[in-house]
Amino acid sequence: VLDENGENAASQPLDTTGGAAAPTTHQALLSWVNEVAELTQPDRVYWVNGSVEENRLLTDELVDAGTLVRLNPETFPNSFAAFSDPKDVARVEEQTFICSEKREDAGFTNNWMDPGEMRAKLDGLFAGSMRGRTMYVVPFVMGHLAAEDPKFGVEITDSAYVVASMRIMANIGTDVLRKMEELDAFFVPALHSVGFPLAEGEDDVPWPCSDEKWIVHFPEDRSIWSYGSGYGGNALLGKKCYALRIASIMARDEGWLAEHMLILKLTSPEQKDYYVSAAFPSACGKTNLALLDPTIDGWKVETLGDDITWMRFGKEGELRAVNPEAGLFGVAPGTGWSTNPNAMRAIAKGNSIFTNVALTDDGGVWWEGMTDEAPAHLTDWLGQEWTPDAGHPAAHPNSRFCTPIDQIDMLADEYHSPNGVPVSAILFGGRRKTTVPLVTEARDWASGIFMGSTLSSETTAAAAGQVGLVRRDPMAMLPFIGYDAGDYLRHWIELSGKANQEKLPKIFLVNWFRRTADGGFAWPGFGDNARVLKWVIERLEGTADAVETPIGFVPTGDSIDLTGLDMTPADVEQAVRVDPQEWATELDAIDEWYERFGATLPQELKDRLAELKDRFAAA
Ligand code: GDP
Ligand code: PGA
Ligand code: MN
Repeated sequence: VLDENGENAASQPLDTTGGAAAPTTHQALLSWVNEVAELTQPDRVYWVNGSVEENRLLTDELVDAGTLVRLNPETFPNSFAAFSDPKDVARVEEQTFICSEKREDAGFTNNWMDPGEMRAKLDGLFAGSMRGRTMYVVPFVMGHLAAEDPKFGVEITDSAYVVASMRIMANIGTDVLRKMEELDAFFVPALHSVGFPLAEGEDDVPWPCSDEKWIVHFPEDRSIWSYGSGYGGNALLGKKCYALRIASIMARDEGWLAEHMLILKLTSPEQKDYYVSAAFPSACGKTNLALLDPTIDGWKVETLGDDITWMRFGKEGELRAVNPEAGLFGVAPGTGWSTNPNAMRAIAKGNSIFTNVALTDDGGVWWEGMTDEAPAHLTDWLGQEWTPDAGHPAAHPNSRFCTPIDQIDMLADEYHSPNGVPVSAILFGGRRKTTVPLVTEARDWASGIFMGSTLSSETTAAAAGQVGLVRRDPMAMLPFIGYDAGDYLRHWIELSGKANQEKLPKIFLVNWFRRTADGGFAWPGFGDNARVLKWVIERLEGTADAVETPIGFVPTGDSIDLTGLDMTPADVEQAVRVDPQEWATELDAIDEWYERFGATLPQELKDRLAELKDRFAAA
C-alpha cells in the first residue's frame, strides 16, 4: 500500500528472516511480528512511524476505500467520519475474557476460559485472518516516554482505521520504537484482527468485522488478542485492554493503581490548586466533568485526563496521578455548545475521527444534544435520510469523537509531567435515578473504599446489552478489573495502608443523575457540577457545612453555592436526601453483591457494611 516502490523508508516488505532489512533491533518484537505474520498471512507488513505524511496517506486510502468520509475542511479540518457495521457499535463484555492459568485468578467479574483452550481457538481464528490485507505494526507507549518505567505496547492490526485512531489516542511510531530498542524493553503484545480476510480479487467492505468477536487477555504473559471487532473499546488495544485490564494486573504486582478515572485541576479564588480524580462507569460523565466549564465565578478548571488514571504513592506518601492517554474517545451525544463547550472547541480544531455520528448536508457532523434544535435534514449513522420527525436518533447513542488531547484549550500544563499530580480528592459516581445523594463525603478512607466497592450505575449504550439496569460497578472498574475483584479491593486497602495517612485523599460519592418526583433531574449537572466541586474543596479545607447521615456527610441546603441558579436550599436538601426506605432496598442489593465475591472479599469491607447497617438500624 504505502511502500509499493520501497519509497517509504520505515516501510518494509514482509521479512520473516530477521535479517539485514529488519526494521528493528528489538529481537523479541521482531520474532513476534514474524510469528504473527506467519499465522495471519497478510499481503504485506507495514511498520507505522507515526508521521503526519504517513497519516495523510493512510486516511487518503481509507477515504478511497469508503471507510472514512472526509468532512468539510473549512469547518472540520483534517477530520473524518466512519460508520461501523450496525452490529459493531460498542464494547462486547460477554465476549471479553481474562484467561489466567487458574480460573480463580480471573474472579467472578470476568469471563474465563482455560488459556490453552483459548489459544487453540484463537490460533484457528487468526490463521489466515489477514489475507488480502496489510498488517500494521504500531509501537506505542501508554503514559510518558520519559517516565521512569515507560509502559510499552505494540499493536498489530489489519485495520487502518485502528492505526489512525491509535495515533490520536497514544504516542505511537518511530520515537517509541527507538526507545524500546534502547531499553530492550518489555512490551505488551496486542494483536488485533477484524476477522475479515479477503479472497483473491474480493472487494472490501467499508467496515470489515466478523460476527464472531473475542476480546482476550492473558494475564501471565500480559498479552492481548482481539478478534472480530473494529469498535474503539474492543480494537484500540492501548485503551481499556492495556491501560486498564492488563495495567491493573501490572499495578497489583508493582504496587500502583490503574483506574477508570478522569483527572482535573481546580484553582480556587484564593489561587490554590487542587487535583481531583473521579471514577464513573462508561457514559456516566467522565469526559464532561474533565472538561467542565464552571458556572460559578472565581473557580477555574483545567483538564489532565478524561478516562484512565494511573496512580502511585509518591515519596511523601502522597497519591500521584498521570493520564496514560494522548486523546479523547468521547461519547458524542449530549456533548454540545451549551453542555460542554470545551469539548466542542477541541473538536472544532479538527484532526478528529467521528464514528457513527450523523452527517450534515454541508459535510459536517451532528448528534443529539450538539445543538438545541436538530438540522432540518441529515444523513443518519446508518446512511439513511433523516429529518427531525424520523422518530429515531440520527447518531448512534454510543457514537464517538476521537480527538487529540492537546487540542483542549484548558489542558493543564501538568498533563505533560511524567511524575503526575498529587490527588487531594477522589470521587466515585454512577447513574442512579434514586437512592444515591448528589454528593456524600465518606467518613474516612476505609468507608470511601467501601463506597467505591459498592458503586452502582444504570447500564448505558457504551456496552452491548440492555440499557438502564442497575448493576454494581466497583470503582467503575467492573468490566476492566484484570484479576479477582476481591483481590483488587484488597490491593486498594493494602497499598493505601502503607501511605502517609495524613495525605490520603478524601473520598466522595456523587450522583449527577438523581431524579425528582416529577421525573426531571434533581441537579442541573454539567458546568454546575463546579458547585459540588467547590463544596468538596471546602470540605477539604474544613470550611463547608455538612449533615451526618448513616452513609456519610452530605451538604446542608445552604452549603452549596446556588448563586445565579434557579434552585433553593430545599431543592439541594431533596437532591442529597438519604431515604431509609430506598436504603433498605440498597442494603439488600449490597448484601447480594458482597455474597458474590466469595472468600476474597476483604474483612475490612464486610465490617464497613455491618457498621452501615447498624447506623441505619439506630437512625
Ligand atoms: P464518559 O463516557 O464517562 O466520559 O461520559 P460522558 O462525559 O461522555 O457523558 C456521557 C453522557 O452523560 C452524555 O450523554 C452526557 O451528556 C451525560 N452527562 C454527563 N455529565 C452529565 C451531568 O452532569 N448531568 C447529566 N444529566 N448528564 C450528564
Ligand atoms: P468509555 O470508554 O465508554 O468509558 O468512554 C470507551 C469504550 O470502551 O468504548
Ligand atoms: Mn469519556
